[in-house]
Amino acid sequence: MEDHCSLTIAIDGPAGSGKSTVARALADSLGIFYLDTGSLYRTWTWLVLHLGISPTSEDQVLDALQAHSIDLQISRDRELIIGIDGRRMGPELRSPEVTTCVPQLAVHSRVREIITDWQRQLAVGRKMVVDGRDIGTVVFPEADVKIFLTADVHERAERRLQEMNRHGHMSSFSEVKKALVERDLVDSTRSISPLRVADGAIVIDTTNRDVKTVVDTILIEIKMLRKRTARDCLDF
Ligand code: CDP
Repeated sequence: MEDHCSLTIAIDGPAGSGKSTVARALADSLGIFYLDTGSLYRTWTWLVLHLGISPTSEDQVLDALQAHSIDLQISRDRELIIGIDGRRMGPELRSPEVTTCVPQLAVHSRVREIITDWQRQLAVGRKMVVDGRDIGTVVFPEADVKIFLTADVHERAERRLQEMNRHGHMSSFSEVKKALVERDLVDSTRSISPLRVADGAIVIDTTNRDVKTVVDTILIEIKMLRKRTARDCLDF
């Protein structure tokens, strides 16, 4: 066996493409860690909103991190536990207010550098599935497997509406679709680390495909990679 079995499966894609559901299911089926990088951007956004700071001011956003501590830990059952000054973060990270403001914070280059650093530290010596917007392009360009998920905008908005309803946030389909399209635009046109398909990524359209079908497609890719490279780390 290899001494340090690190393995990175990168999954990028726009909101509602099925990233987090697929990434979590894939990580569970392989018995490895799932890193939701959106939650890191959401945590910092929650903090600045809580402090009454505008996420558009990079200096103030950075000052907020000087004065407060964000703590990241991985539990024994492979869950990422996020704390701010000792307070454990949960569903508040997915509130509509945080969701709307994250892209404003995520455009800042220093913010992205710091969060990229957190992600790389979490990856050391670890097997993981990691999802986000810039994973295969910037954070882990050498990832073992790179996936880019897409889906029809109507279906993405429908999925997001259902997710919001499950969390008790009521909204209309047209509002959800408009917000999603706006967020996609900011995420894919920003100058630093825009959302785009990484070199070597496998693009999977999840429209009308269930989670199991998508996960099975990725598992086949991992098997093929194992055959090509004979890496012990890919034995599952
Ligand atoms: O779950 P959903 O795709 O809606 O969002 P998320 O993955 O939680 O990400 C929320 C926001 O964080 C995105 O709209 C991006 O603005 C930002 N983000 C980013 O810039 N880079 C990442 N690797 C992950 C998230």
